[in-house]
Amino acid sequence: MRRALTAVLGTGALLLAMLVAVALPASAAPGTLKESAAAKGRVFGAAAATAHMGESAYAATLDREFNQLTPENEMKWATTEPSRNSFDFGPADQLVSHAQAQSMKIRGHTLVWHNQLPDWVSGISSRDDLLSAMRNHIAKEAGHYAGKVAYWDVVNEAFQDGSGARRDSVFQRVIGDSYMEEAFRAARAADPSAKLCYNDYNIDGQNAKSNAVYNMVKDFKARGVPIDCVGLQAHLTLGAVPSDMQTNMQRFADLGVDVHITELDIRMSTPPDSSKLATQANDYKKVVSACLAVSRCTVITVWGVTDKYSWIPDVFPGEGAALLFDGNYAKKPAYDAALQALGGEDPGDPGDPGDPGAVTCTYARTAQWNGGFNGQVTIKAGATAVASWTVVMTMGSGQQIVALWNGTASTSGNVVTVKPVGWNGSLAPGASASYGFTVNAPTGNTADPVISCGTP
Ligand code: G3I
Repeated sequence: MRRALTAVLGTGALLLAMLVAVALPASAAPGTLKESAAAKGRVFGAAAATAHMGESAYAATLDREFNQLTPENEMKWATTEPSRNSFDFGPADQLVSHAQAQSMKIRGHTLVWHNQLPDWVSGISSRDDLLSAMRNHIAKEAGHYAGKVAYWDVVNEAFQDGSGARRDSVFQRVIGDSYMEEAFRAARAADPSAKLCYNDYNIDGQNAKSNAVYNMVKDFKARGVPIDCVGLQAHLTLGAVPSDMQTNMQRFADLGVDVHITELDIRMSTPPDSSKLATQANDYKKVVSACLAVSRCTVITVWGVTDKYSWIPDVFPGEGAALLFDGNYAKKPAYDAALQALGGEDPGDPGDPGDPGAVTCTYARTAQWNGGFNGQVTIKAGATAVASWTVVMTMGSGQQIVALWNGTASTSGNVVTVKPVGWNGSLAPGASASYGFTVNAPTGNTADPVISCGTP
């Protein structure tokens, strides 16, 4: 809100904008991901697993922050129909009941996928037989959850990286290209109220694979095959958010489907450090902002509640720390950045499990000119006094801080860590301190820094 105001008003009206910004009560901004997403007409979800629901911090974090739940493994074919026509919905039902009790939407994941597929399916060699098994699986599973699931990932990961050709799965080999539309038609018949999505990874930017998905969606829309949404999984690596992610989402939206970010995580080499975490925060901000810029991008779901249980270290040894909460359920800088991008503000309630500290921080641009600007960061204590604070600022490329007052700064690449000068470190409950700085932006990049703060 503050940034939008200063961006639309000219320099002449800057003083007025500053006064308006100062007048906005901090409590006006929503304090959790789900609240701030809802205020923007979006849904913010997480993948969750039955196995962890008994852990109180896990369930509490899930319930507090997210309003959509994707069962991480429990709705996959190997779990729900391990032998032919014998169904087990027990583990998924637990998650669905939990989600319903919390008024969370449910994403069904996934009906047709080459992975986590029972051997009896992989062994079918007759087209009619496999088509009948697939139709039955979809009818029974989507039928079981009819009216309860908001979105289904009907078909998952059916295209190859690089070429964008169809993936060589048993469905592709035995049924042929038509298996996908057969799956979507069966899903619509089983649950007419669920939004039906195609879901894949490495289709977050424009490339041969996302082009292939685009052509498939275009063809489905032209021929009346029921499809409502495309899921961009967004399993990303640090510092590599595709620069054309927004354009890519928009082209799908222009075909008349919703776009969902379905499995967002941004992995880094472990252990994390403040510089990597700041880059990750900036990456999350980019993804959330890209989604908000596309009106049909309606859902953002992260692939897990906590780094503790992420799939990444199992598959990419030496990498991890990809999510918004660390292994102790503390909010990471990426959390603050995602919340900030959604227009929310962390209330800094020290009673929250894993809250990184009892301070919140807000940023305001206080002056600007051709090639630079002044900024001010205000750090506010929550319900308890704090002895000190730290703010991490990620600067835009080409920017340089040339002066900073009422704080001490150390710089590593584009990450600037600011600590108190001494007299403004200790804050009584509800008290605040501010520091200011001047940024030179010779290349014309006057983007605001991404900030996060804590109480080390
Ligand atoms: O349940 C068994 C357990 O009994 C056994 O002791 C243990 C030993 O390794 O394995 C457990 O199963 C594991 C399962 O997750 C549940 O934890 C599997 O080995 C493991 O392969 C499986 O990994 C899942 C992976 O899909 C399978 O491909 C991950 O949790 C899950 O996060 C991941 O999710 C996928 C999405 O569905 C599709 N997009 C990519 C995404 C990441 O790979």
